[in-house]
Amino acid sequence: MSLRGAPEETPERKAFYDRIDAVAMAPLWSVLAEIVTPEPKSACVPHLWRFAEAKALLLEAGGLITAKEAERRVLILENPGLRGESKITTSLYAGLQLVLPGEVAPAHRHSQTALRFVLDGAGAHTAVEGERTVMEVGDFVITPPWAWHDHGNHSAQPMIWLDGLDIPLVSFFDASFAEGYGADEQPVTRQTDDSLARYGSNLLPVDFESRGPASPIFNYPYARSRAALEQMKRQEDWDPCHGLKLRYINPVDGGFAMPTMATFLQLLPKGFKTAGYRSTDATVFAVVEGRGRSTLGGRAFGWGPKDIFVAPSWARIIHEAEEEAVIFSYSDRAAQQKLGLWREDRGNA
Ligand SMILES: [Fe+2]
Repeated sequence: MSLRGAPEETPERKAFYDRIDAVAMAPLWSVLAEIVTPEPKSACVPHLWRFAEAKALLLEAGGLITAKEAERRVLILENPGLRGESKITTSLYAGLQLVLPGEVAPAHRHSQTALRFVLDGAGAHTAVEGERTVMEVGDFVITPPWAWHDHGNHSAQPMIWLDGLDIPLVSFFDASFAEGYGADEQPVTRQTDDSLARYGSNLLPVDFESRGPASPIFNYPYARSRAALEQMKRQEDWDPCHGLKLRYINPVDGGFAMPTMATFLQLLPKGFKTAGYRSTDATVFAVVEGRGRSTLGGRAFGWGPKDIFVAPSWARIIHEAEEEAVIFSYSDRAAQQKLGLWREDRGNA
């Protein structure tokens, strides 16, 4: 049952509201039904960005400003319902970052947690806390909160990836800190991919103690994740809502890889249509392989490789794969579950 709407505004009440307004007070009964809603009510709308168009604009930006001058040469994917707020959902940010051959995106750190999902190119690197990883299409790379990070491209081709950050969440808490390293690149102090070997091989160093809320692995290579899906699909054990869907984990505790954001990789076999599904975590999807269409809150969008689309909180999602498809996604589910807010509705599935 809904809460009651705002009571009638009589002249006496209006005069009273004006008086209390002058002392920075307001009547709850005028706004209660608006701020405590029976179900999620969001300004965020479903939307899709075509990669081909985005790439052309990014390359144009590459001629306008260097990665160094920009600090990060990124075009923000702004939700059409949230223009001017640098948000793809109410709580999350998304951007497409371009690093051209020979460029460096200088070292810095911030309270915000970041993920990269590689869309185009190969061979650029990200360095996190003294360790480099070389990025390939489909790799999922994390930057934990307050970790030094820089990006460089020693390959011969432009490199484009999706940046996902919890910027709006951190802004909501007024908890943003950031600083520059003072040099383009931090010194490399660890062997490339040391963390993947050390923490990503179903083993942990015997006396390992967790030093922070994020996974100690910072590159989850696509080759490994894709191989897992390939093996699992032989079982033909499809979830009606998700096909085959895995979540990226922190191997230390089995939780999500990052403290605020959850990330997933799913496979939909050719011809599969998911049952309607909705959850309170508005979700950003990046197509890796295949073509299909998704209905998001009643609106249909066709997609292909590298396209990006967003579904608002509690909007019903139906995916249909015309070809076998692999889709990466991220949301604020990690934060919502810690706060006891997350809900899902699997329909009749
Ligand atoms: Fe950053």
